[in-house]
Amino acid sequence: MALSRRSFFGSTALAAGAALLPGELLARAGAAAPTPATLQDWDTVRGLFELSPDWVHASLFLLSSHPRPVREAMEKMRRALDANPADMLEESAFSKPEHNLDVRAAAAVARYIGASVEDVALTNSTTHGLAVAYHGLSLGPGDEILTTAHDHMVHVETARLVSARCGASVREVRLFEGHDASAATAEGLVRTLRDAIAPATRVLGVTWVHSSSGLKLPLRRLADAVREVNEKREPGRRVTLLVDGVHGLGADDPRVAETGIDVFVSGLHKWMLGPRGTGIVWARPELWARMRPINLSYNAEELYLAWMEGRAPQPPARAS
Ligand SMILES: Cc1ncc(COP(=O)(O)O)c(C=O)c1O
Repeated sequence: MALSRRSFFGSTALAAGAALLPGELLARAGAAAPTPATLQDWDTVRGLFELSPDWVHASLFLLSSHPRPVREAMEKMRRALDANPADMLEESAFSKPEHNLDVRAAAAVARYIGASVEDVALTNSTTHGLAVAYHGLSLGPGDEILTTAHDHMVHVETARLVSARCGASVREVRLFEGHDASAATAEGLVRTLRDAIAPATRVLGVTWVHSSSGLKLPLRRLADAVREVNEKREPGRRVTLLVDGVHGLGADDPRVAETGIDVFVSGLHKWMLGPRGTGIVWARPELWARMRPINLSYNAEELYLAWMEGRAPQPPARAS
């Protein structure tokens, strides 16, 4: 029996008396594009932000100040939710896919990074995305997570938590001494990482742009090197190249899904200037299919239908 969420709720007293005005609700929620910003000169760009003029702000690596189009879209959404939470949720999440705001957000990210919308999961931060990705990968005793000495605390600690849970070990490789990255070369970085991969290594977790030094790893060359390693391995022993890309997304060539990496994790509330508490995980479809989900999403239609029909969800799993 296929029963949509709308018909399910429609059959209960929950929906009784609620007058649906989908067009109006979505218009209030900013379904139409926010006021376009013209970015022809620096003063105009500067004017989009409500940053205090008393300071020179160089803090995008921490948290963005929202530019006007983002503030306006968020305010519209807040008003629509406050005015009619039930209908707003129904229209923006549970009815037509083209109205689903999560799917539309994932589709926008997918276009930006050169990916398929079905391979983009929405998260609340880089930290959350790292947990989704690392805990989702099916690691166990005898497997190794290889990270670097230059990753953010949340990356290091996520790897430690995953290790404690599943029995995989964690090893760190240093790419250069101290904090001076100035002598590092693309070739040297890739060689050091490739040489550090051991037979037990199943995940190579790196940071695209290091928060401590600004050093940017050459993703495409690194992905090529990992592919060469993997060509000599059985499918079950291959190395997954996982990238914390939060300081690259929005600041550099965004088509990361085309670089050859396997998993890309990022917040959207730094250089992307997105709402605070937003982020993504992109992974190759064959990885999503193997991952063990650690939390649910309302956007997985198959999950929902399977639950309604009292059966197990059918593989393959996708990002949602
Ligand atoms: C490299 C890196 N990864 C992850 C994070 C955590 O980001 P989020 O706030 O999106 O969890 C930071 C925070 O500054 C960071 O610099």
